[in-house]
Amino acid sequence: MTDEEILQLLRESPSAFLSGEEISHRLKVSRTAVWKRITHLRALGYEIEASTRSGYRLVNSPDLLAPWEVQPLLKTKKMGRKIHYFQTLDSTNSKAYQLALNGAEEGEVVITESQEKGRGRLERQWFSPPFLNLYLSVILRPKIPPHQASLITLMAAVAAADAIQKFSGFLPLIKWPNDILLRDRKVAGLLNEIHSETDRIHFVILGIGVNLNMGEKMFPKEIRPMATSLMIETRQTISRKAFLQSLLLQLEKWYAIFLKQGSTVILKAWRDRAQIKGRRVKVISFGEIWVGMAVDVDSDGALILETEDGRRKRVVAGDIEYKEKVKS
Ligand code: BTN
Repeated sequence: MTDEEILQLLRESPSAFLSGEEISHRLKVSRTAVWKRITHLRALGYEIEASTRSGYRLVNSPDLLAPWEVQPLLKTKKMGRKIHYFQTLDSTNSKAYQLALNGAEEGEVVITESQEKGRGRLERQWFSPPFLNLYLSVILRPKIPPHQASLITLMAAVAAADAIQKFSGFLPLIKWPNDILLRDRKVAGLLNEIHSETDRIHFVILGIGVNLNMGEKMFPKEIRPMATSLMIETRQTISRKAFLQSLLLQLEKWYAIFLKQGSTVILKAWRDRAQIKGRRVKVISFGEIWVGMAVDVDSDGALILETEDGRRKRVVAGDIEYKEKVKS
């Protein structure tokens, strides 16, 4: 008997009680096993009323990202139709990578309630406390050459920005290479990893972390001034499962656009949401620092910078800081 099966039974009769005997009969398990499972579900946050005479009744469900909670909401064809769900993991990216090596298919998703070693870009950590945010990795198997892999990252940043906008009503900005900002603070980040040979990608792991219900003081001190969450910005608790459904829908939409229409549409969508052209930036890349004007992002996702002495530089990895605020 799984959590899912017992919840399904309880949901079939939302207002009535279901006796322990009936549950044990229908699921072909002992009444003690039913009781144990009910205790487990309560520990997960399900409010289940129990009456010695009448049995059990589901009163309230928590905002878990479990497949049985998320899948009924999904409007996608492929993305998230198979969810690998965990209470905790080192990192969803590492898990998804292993699953993909073992043949997991395109659109399969790894979700966890918390990460012990959540990974950020440039060997940083990604703060991943339980039951507050979204930590997910999507497995993709695009038939494209490896040099186009960064377009997948740009595509995912556009999709994440769109989900955040649809959900919050605020316009997020993408900061090169793929941070999503609200009011100049980071609300989401992407870490994509590829497995490929010279001329062919085997798979891409799209790792996405979105700060949803973190209060300001929950962030570690050192990132507090630069970080935000959707709850902080909207002053409302965010339904994590509803956000996840929206994000997966946007990902499916933008991925289909990329496969059908190619890089031009993706680059345009990214540029519209990044508004980086002409801005003065400080670039930190492999220990070197340059200040200059951002000219554009090329089709491989590299930043083109015009340094103060008028030279052009192509920056493939690193971080930027804006030297002035965006003009609105
Ligand atoms: C960054 O902005 O530095 C990237 C952050 C990416 C975090 C996500 S959370 C889910 C997935 N698993 C990880 O270990 N990292 C990514």
